[in-house]
Amino acid sequence: MKIMKVDNYSELCRTAAAIIIEKVAMADKINLGLATGSTPIGLYCYLVDDHLRNHTSYHHVKTFNLDEYVGLSPDDPNSYHYYMEENLFHYMDLWPENIHLPNGISEQLSAECHQYESLIANHGGIDLQLLGLGRNGHIGFNEPGTSFQSKTHVVDLDDSTRKANSRFFDSIDQVPQQAITMGIDTIFSSKEILLLVSGEGKIEAVKRLLEGEISEDFPASILKNHPNITVIVDSGTIAEI
Ligand code: F6R
Repeated sequence: MKIMKVDNYSELCRTAAAIIIEKVAMADKINLGLATGSTPIGLYCYLVDDHLRNHTSYHHVKTFNLDEYVGLSPDDPNSYHYYMEENLFHYMDLWPENIHLPNGISEQLSAECHQYESLIANHGGIDLQLLGLGRNGHIGFNEPGTSFQSKTHVVDLDDSTRKANSRFFDSIDQVPQQAITMGIDTIFSSKEILLLVSGEGKIEAVKRLLEGEISEDFPASILKNHPNITVIVDSGTIAEI
């Protein structure tokens, strides 16, 4: 794992944005795996800013999000579709047909998972996957105990994850019980991974990632075996490690 230590959250976002912008600008076509949550919000601001100022084009980019809540439609303000639209897609010149997220309101969730997995494979796989790190080591919505061989699947969300994500909802009762997520093997099959870790709340998780053993009890630990991963951490997280 290549570790980049930066001074603060803004620097983390700028650094990650520079990596993505360079790849997008150099590529004839590129498949980006995208994440939601608090961590990438600043990064998306930099991508939007760059697109508006420097006109970096995303016409040749296809996007595949990591996950979506079960039961929330794309126009629900708490869905990940909505988040992506608000924070990134709305401002960019991506073709709508090149934007992909799991369909959380599919009536056939299991078929939806298979289709999403095939969709990624049929497009040649993810070239660059962006990830955040859950406090319990989850990546995507792959909670501790998920098989490293897992493909896109439906998960029952941990109470700790529902509690952490309840900050985006009016109450924890509104946080869905399930989500569709790329599996750990789906994520691991990406050609390149960019993992962003920011803030004091992630100190224990990043310590365990760097110092702990590789175990399904801590899903992110498998990333240590990935041949092309960069982890960017900011001082709020690294002061202690
Ligand atoms: C988001 C996702 C999650 C988050 C993780 C960290 O699509 O799949 O794994 O990356 O929960 O979330 P934040 O960035 O809010 O700390």
